[in-house]
Amino acid sequence: QSELSLRPDTLNQYIGQHNIKSNLDIFIKAAKLREEPLDHCLLYGPPGLGKTTLAHIISNEMGVNLRTASGPSIERPGDLAAILSALQPGDVLFIDEIHRLSRVVEEVLYPAMEDFFLDIVVGKGEEARSIRIDLPPFTLVGATTRVGSLSAPLRDRFGVHLRLEYYDDKSLEQIIERTAEVFNVDIDSQSTNELSKRSRGTPRIANRLLRRVRDFAQVEGSHAITIKTTKHALDLLQVDREGLDHIDYKIMQCILNNYKGGPVGLDAIAATIGEERITLEDVYEPYLIQKGFIERTPRGRKATAISYDHFEVKKD
Ligand code: ADE
Repeated sequence: QSELSLRPDTLNQYIGQHNIKSNLDIFIKAAKLREEPLDHCLLYGPPGLGKTTLAHIISNEMGVNLRTASGPSIERPGDLAAILSALQPGDVLFIDEIHRLSRVVEEVLYPAMEDFFLDIVVGKGEEARSIRIDLPPFTLVGATTRVGSLSAPLRDRFGVHLRLEYYDDKSLEQIIERTAEVFNVDIDSQSTNELSKRSRGTPRIANRLLRRVRDFAQVEGSHAITIKTTKHALDLLQVDREGLDHIDYKIMQCILNNYKGGPVGLDAIAATIGEERITLEDVYEPYLIQKGFIERTPRGRKATAISYDHFEVKKD
């Protein structure tokens, strides 16, 4: 038996995201039957839900290499040309944060995606000429937390669009059990359940919390993770029963107290609590909205009635 690793290698091992899994399964099988590379795939959704993991699985299931890059790291067309011309036929190129590609790089990417060639301008002024480089067929897997920031021409060149959803508690429990197995640590079902409820639907957070709880158990000298240790650790880590941490509290208290429940703009919240707007927008707000604590209105963010209860603020 091969060593169990934290990242699953196959669609079968991948827990949750049933819709994505069943779709990908068909597309991969069909591409293999045709002996063609898989169509370009766009993965989007909040951070920590497994976009990189899926890229890894896609390349593994297709039996090809995975090359990875990120939007900000590809600064000039030449950077992209170097990456693309090093690919072997059928390879998967994973570009994380693909919404952060510059416009000039994007334009070089279009013909590469569509017809597998590059048009690169070499030289300057009078000497400038364009050379065409043929590329091996490949699959681009693009990942983004903000699909709305992608230009329409780029978005339209992906044949497969997959939106990742927050995980339900059951799936998170399975992921935590699997990770505990990889870590070779015993954990009781109450602890698994508690961790799943406090991981805001996000495997990356579930695995991080499990690591920290394991630390507490280890220092206490216990061989197994029990509910007592789990609750104690999570309280010290300032993760509440809904999985909200002290930044979520700062955001909500800012809206509820400083702005009397809103509406208030995201920039004002960011300035008040000293976080970056983009972090609030990509990481914190989506979960607070999904939980029904915040609503977006044309005039800004508003606290909902249930947030007054959860954050114990009296509405006056
Ligand atoms: N580890 C992190 N995310 C996972 C998932 N969706 N399935 C299995 N293991 C994971």
